[in-house]
Amino acid sequence: MAILQVLHFPNIRLRVKATTVNKFDNSVRKIVADMFETMYAAPGIGLAAIQVNIPQQIIVIDVSEKQNQPLCLINPKIIAKEGKQTFEEGCLSVPDVFEEVERAEKITVEALNQKGESFTLSTDGLLAICIQHELDHLIGKLFIDYISSLKRQRIQKKLLKQKR
Ligand code: NI
Repeated sequence: MAILQVLHFPNIRLRVKATTVNKFDNSVRKIVADMFETMYAAPGIGLAAIQVNIPQQIIVIDVSEKQNQPLCLINPKIIAKEGKQTFEEGCLSVPDVFEEVERAEKITVEALNQKGESFTLSTDGLLAICIQHELDHLIGKLFIDYISSLKRQRIQKKLLKQKR
């Protein structure tokens, strides 16, 4: 396993649309294992493959306190949404920035696991927020796209300054 480098906003590679996974071979299993290692090391509660420069529809999540409930979603689709909730979100690709985002309260998602087996998950709360946040990454969308462009420009300036 290996810790992968996480791309940071405003890297344009974060804006790429991820392609679906069609083959469930060792290379997919290796990507998933490396993504879990990268997410746990950060530490973070979710990571999309696009954030480590792999534009495939692969997401890893663990919102448990002890970080012992790994969840992998491949080619995920939200098939039902209900209600609203607001949460102060962050992202490994936008370090040290936290902004309130409104999401659906309850969701049902259909996905494949790392073996290519399909499953359906209905959930709410933090896990529902996290899944919606990570699914956005698959279409090149970031949580800061929900805030004003003025605020987003300020964040961009701040992050570019930190890089120098
Ligand atoms: Ni993120």
